[in-house]
Amino acid sequence: MGRFGILTSGGDCPGLNAVIRGTVLQGETLHDQEFVGYLRGYRGLVYGDVMPLDRSVVRGISSQGGTILGTSRFGPYTEPDGTPDNIKAHMKRLGVDGVIAIGGDGTMAAANRLYEDGIPVVGVPKTIDNDLEATDYTFGFNTAVEIATEAVDRLRTTGNSHKRCMVLEVMGRHAGWIAMYAGTAGGAHAILIPEQPENLDQICEWVQSVRLRGRSPMVVVAEGFTLPDMDEAHSHKGMDGFNRPRLGGIGEILAPLIEEKTGIETRATVLGHIQRGGVPSAWDRVLGTRFGQAVSDMVADQAWGQMVALRGMDIERVPFSEAVGHTKNVPLDQYRGARAIFG
Ligand code: F6P
Repeated sequence: MGRFGILTSGGDCPGLNAVIRGTVLQGETLHDQEFVGYLRGYRGLVYGDVMPLDRSVVRGISSQGGTILGTSRFGPYTEPDGTPDNIKAHMKRLGVDGVIAIGGDGTMAAANRLYEDGIPVVGVPKTIDNDLEATDYTFGFNTAVEIATEAVDRLRTTGNSHKRCMVLEVMGRHAGWIAMYAGTAGGAHAILIPEQPENLDQICEWVQSVRLRGRSPMVVVAEGFTLPDMDEAHSHKGMDGFNRPRLGGIGEILAPLIEEKTGIETRATVLGHIQRGGVPSAWDRVLGTRFGQAVSDMVADQAWGQMVALRGMDIERVPFSEAVGHTKNVPLDQYRGARAIFG
């Protein structure tokens, strides 16, 4: 019973549409729930901007990338209109009894604040970075890893043909999960992640030893990686809507440094948003669908202030207070294990 508003906030992510579909189908079939879609994330919530969302609208969307609702990095409290009273008034006008927020850490932190301000809200964790501590995996990560792995494979053929060192920069703001998985799958000779600074001498030693064996070095670096003399991750593109520096460009910094120190011609490729786009993998569609079904059940139980999470093979419920602000880093042991065979 009831009518609920679904929103997608933060960066888009493969599998968002599967969550939306899973929620609507479960809600209509099992719980007699109705839905509307808030347009462009929290912007839609603050301005009361919605689209109809029922079984006919979500038909066949699991295989589509992006989000049919649109998204933004718009914080609900950043504009003068973003007050709990205003949001509640729009909800009342639209007949919305509660909000389902699908997003990453910034979105969940905002959802927690809305909940503390008396707005019934639940969450679904999303990010290709896979860096939310409360869940074993986020949907979108699997697709991003497949895309990044394909990029490693493709760059290797150019590296081999030209006898070059190839540097691939992937996303990963706080945690290097995409770099670790794609680098390992693609047999990279060095993987550089935010959790573990490495110095240039060490990186060049790995690169040189690969060349000495007659191979072409492949380096995978996460956007949040820092060299020891850097205070913070490289950013030259200003701030995003959640007031975080927009990262990117560390690959372009590393490539000339490696070339200068080793004498090996080196090229950088920034994979960027290609990692977030296109058709979601089967795994992400399944996880997204399961999350969507579980969040509909959660709303039916009026279990507000919580987020669905994957723990092992099961979907569980986690309070926002436990879920927000805890980054899931690549464990040092896991990195050390990978590092042992670099070079
Ligand atoms: O938060 C996920 C993420 O993919 C980060 O890895 C990256 O820093 C960010 O999104 C880029 O976001 P935008 O599309 O706003 O530039």
